Amino acid sequence: MNVRRMNPGDLEKAAELEEICFSDPWTYEMLSESFENTLYRFFVYEQDGQVTGYAGMFKALDEGNIANIAVFPEYRRQGIGEALLAALIDEGRKEGLSRMFLEVRETNYPAVALYKKLGFTEAGYRKDYYHDPEEGAKILTLDL
Ligand SMILES: CC(C)(COP(=O)(O)OP(=O)(O)OC[C@H]1O[C@@H](n2cnc3c(N)ncnc32)[C@H](O)[C@@H]1OP(=O)(O)O)[C@@H](O)C(=O)NCCC(=O)NCCS
Repeated sequence: MNVRRMNPGDLEKAAELEEICFSDPWTYEMLSESFENTLYRFFVYEQDGQVTGYAGMFKALDEGNIANIAVFPEYRRQGIGEALLAALIDEGRKEGLSRMFLEVRETNYPAVALYKKLGFTEAGYRKDYYHDPEEGAKILTLDL
């Protein structure tokens, strides 16, 4: 099993992943603050001593809101994103949450395909939710 809970020593890699993968990345400080927040859960994927991906969610009442999931480009399409998402879903189940929830850029086809592969379905749409570039968000949910 290459998925493990994130620890403070992984925060720099997570910030690097954010910088590479998103136009509005979480900074090291944002990640560090969330990591200290007891409502957040973070996991990383480690191969040969290298962190190649990370994912996080926060709990809001009985829902798990997936906040981030990212894999370094050279390690994509090897099942890492799926393993990380499965870890978040498993965590949600263990913690007795009713459902998982997330927003995703409507044209982020790899991410939408990943979520749908693990059973998420479309529950709504938020117009102009994202900036840089401006784009709508699909809202996806999974009943646990
Ligand atoms: C989305 C992301 C995390 C997927 O990670 P990954 O490790 O490449 O995904 P996996 O190899 O585990 O793929 C699992 C499934 O997702 C889907 N998928 C992943 N990448 C895909 C692609 N480029 N095209 C189509 N489907 C894709 C497939 O259904 C795949 O299953 P399959 O291999 O049996 O076809 C990765 O592309 C990424 O880091 N993107 C940038 C960050 C991002 O957009 N995060 C989501 C924010 S909401």
